[in-house]
Amino acid sequence: MARKKLIAGNWKMNCLLEDGTALAKAVATQVKGGKFDCDFLICPPFTLLGFVKKCLRGTKIALGAQDVHFAEKGAHTGDISPLMLKDLGCSYTLIGHSERRVDHFETNELICKKAVAAHAAGLNTVICIGETGEERDAGKTIKVCQEEINGSVPDDATAKNTVIAYEPIWAIGTGKTPTAADVQEVHAAIRKALAKKLGKATANKMRILYGGSVKPSNAEELLKLPDVDGALIGGASLKADDFIGIAKNALK
Ligand code: PGA
Repeated sequence: MARKKLIAGNWKMNCLLEDGTALAKAVATQVKGGKFDCDFLICPPFTLLGFVKKCLRGTKIALGAQDVHFAEKGAHTGDISPLMLKDLGCSYTLIGHSERRVDHFETNELICKKAVAAHAAGLNTVICIGETGEERDAGKTIKVCQEEINGSVPDDATAKNTVIAYEPIWAIGTGKTPTAADVQEVHAAIRKALAKKLGKATANKMRILYGGSVKPSNAEELLKLPDVDGALIGGASLKADDFIGIAKNALK
């Protein structure tokens, strides 16, 4: 089953107007200038979405947000609705990143609700899952991932509107990564859990990204694994050369 790789950048709470637009332009130039048989996605902070959209014009790089509310509109101070993201030109949103699960107490139930609302508005979602270091040490990695798949992925998920990102929390921003064998084992288990929930055909087509300290030097090893269909990149997405370097190495 050929799944086109997705190389996604999560800028998190980084960049102001000047450096954010410069970064987006640099990525756009490199993508335009090369031949990449993969999809690209950039998820800047809300404040930069409109500006980055302009920088990506004429490229095939998709624009995504880092979170979304489940309501269409109304009394939700500080929140952003799926339609607002659509209106700005987003085609994706991340949902359930561990930094939101931890910092904002987001539950599987809430994440699932957000995914349903995003899909209803025509947005694709990248639903993030992954275990803590403690859970890994206790041998619970696969169980945690299965529970998060069951609880966070809605029944309306298709291979088109949903991407899964497996991000071991202890590997995010730490420079540590699981071994390639461990990554493959977890991704295969995630695909199995997706098959149980959504059917085998959907699971076989759905992209499962790996995230957590992906950089140009480890991209080839991680992204050539049979069940790894791309990467969700934090720190290394803040440098155009590194972000594009990951794509180049992932496609080797
Ligand atoms: P990192 O972040 O690449 O900086 O580890 C990944 C993520 O949190 O999406």
